[in-house]
Amino acid sequence: MGRRSIHSLRRMKERGERFSMVTCYDYPSARIVEEAGIPAVLVGDSLGTVLLGYESTVAVTLDDILHHVKPVVRGSDRAIVVADMPFGSYQNSADEAMRNATRLLQEGGATAVKLEGGQRIVPLVQRMVAAGIPVMGHLGLTPQSVLQLGGNRVQGKSDAKAAEILDDAIALERAGAFAIVLELIPASLAREITAQLRIPTVGIGAGIDTDGEIQVWHDILGLFPDFLPKHSQRFARLAPQIRFALENYAHAVRTRDFPGADQTVDTTPSTNQVLTALFDEMETFDEMTTKA
Ligand code: KIV
Repeated sequence: MGRRSIHSLRRMKERGERFSMVTCYDYPSARIVEEAGIPAVLVGDSLGTVLLGYESTVAVTLDDILHHVKPVVRGSDRAIVVADMPFGSYQNSADEAMRNATRLLQEGGATAVKLEGGQRIVPLVQRMVAAGIPVMGHLGLTPQSVLQLGGNRVQGKSDAKAAEILDDAIALERAGAFAIVLELIPASLAREITAQLRIPTVGIGAGIDTDGEIQVWHDILGLFPDFLPKHSQRFARLAPQIRFALENYAHAVRTRDFPGADQTVDTTPSTNQVLTALFDEMETFDEMTTKA
């Protein structure tokens, strides 16, 4: 059937069909996302914190994203795969940004790239779109600017800041972005932006009235038992289940219950194998003597 096009998200908005997105960082997870029928995934720079153990996403490099985009693309046939452009990969020069975005599509196999920022990145978005690179925007809390913002705080609480975010969203739509992530902004502002745009909004910590929702894999699957952001919910608690499975495995190894006969290859035939071979031979001998 082939991979979904970026335009399918807009058609979902037009039909009033709310869609989900999830972050995804490897091949087996991409296979599961595909089976679950989720239409789009983000290989987010959140991989820096949830996979690599960094304090923020600032340390993530283009090579990190490329490394994870490739298996996600291999593991998914239908889902739109959006690759995050990490900090430093599009801020230094437009030419470098173009080269890096091209690598994510050409080498990584991504369907689209995501960039954080508003008016500041509009010329770059225009250039990318003109070159055939689909761009997803990202407004509100932009984690790559965490050092400047002074923490992961809700954005757009004052009227002036809310108006700025709305203007940024309109500017990104005009520049050709096909969707915009709205992170950690008041629900009323997200509702207003969603109503004003023709392209879909994808919320995270932005209330229920966005066109789609995106969440981080480790949060919704309960892979961090001690931490859950306020805007997320655990739809499973996998960490204790994985721990239980690992404890069972370690116990079975310790008690010599694993590996068992089923997992073992031996060159010395077992008594069973010897007897079966003997009976087979006797049957063949019987058949031959009966015929004779
Ligand atoms: O990197 C990421 O996972 C993101 C989402 C939180 C939108 O940017």
